[in-house]
Amino acid sequence: PAHVLTMEDWDVSAIHALLEKAQYFADNPEKLPLQRLYAANLFFEPSTRTKISFEAAERNLGLDLLHFEADTSSVIKGESLYDTVKTLESIGADVVVIRHGRERFFDELRGHVNIPIINGGDGCGHHPTQSFLDLLTIRQEFGTFTNVNIVIAGDIYHSRVARSNLEVLERLGANVYVSGPKEWMSDELLQRYLPMDEAVEAADVMMMLRIQHERHTVKMVAGPDEYHKRFGLNEEKAARMKPGAVIMHPAPVNRNVELADALVESGRSRIFKQMKNGVFVRMAVLHYVLEKQKGWLDQ
Ligand code: CP
Repeated sequence: PAHVLTMEDWDVSAIHALLEKAQYFADNPEKLPLQRLYAANLFFEPSTRTKISFEAAERNLGLDLLHFEADTSSVIKGESLYDTVKTLESIGADVVVIRHGRERFFDELRGHVNIPIINGGDGCGHHPTQSFLDLLTIRQEFGTFTNVNIVIAGDIYHSRVARSNLEVLERLGANVYVSGPKEWMSDELLQRYLPMDEAVEAADVMMMLRIQHERHTVKMVAGPDEYHKRFGLNEEKAARMKPGAVIMHPAPVNRNVELADALVESGRSRIFKQMKNGVFVRMAVLHYVLEKQKGWLDQ
């Protein structure tokens, strides 16, 4: 089966084909497939956007949902992820979407299950559908990735979004920089570091990241107010952004920490556009894996 696990697995032409398909769904909301197929969403970590937009994407495509809640499943009795997925496959799931706290949870499944697996986020590892929705949003905004200046700012070390996006954006031709606390950056990342004051003036896209308190094993570098002042994007800094430059954030947003409350719904913000695009790229991803699995052709 065709899985969707990391952005590194996607070459540039496949990325563009996927984005074309997502745009097709954005432009043709009435298109629906014919067959009855089952999808199961297995979320072992909290989620609002990814889980609900996968549900919306599945329903838009006419898929039936097999409901799974980790807290009321036999996972509580000690059943492994592997046995859970094999069970859903046996019951009739045609595709599973999984979010799990364990990085590369999919390695133990790949090659052992016969249905597609879509990664809805693995620990600090990867979040490919978030990457696709970010790519679609940037492409809609600028029409290209070539030489678009993208600053990824904030908690890069703990961010699966940053990890997926950094590599793929560069491969697509964008200029990618990082900003935020240096304590959270590797030597390799520091090669592309810009202080916030320079970053806001250089960026076409300021991609702000949530501080992932739940993954921090080291002390916070600053309290919320100090973080906002030193590393966050406030109205004064946003006023220095180029005409046409936009603000993105995968959300949920810590308002007034990494991003000022007033900027979340400002004219420069594409945060809610990103969420809307999440449905279209997840439709395209589901369509891609099911087409490979079932020969499920466009009508
Ligand atoms: N951006 C994102 O993955 O949001 P959720 O954790 O709410 O799914």
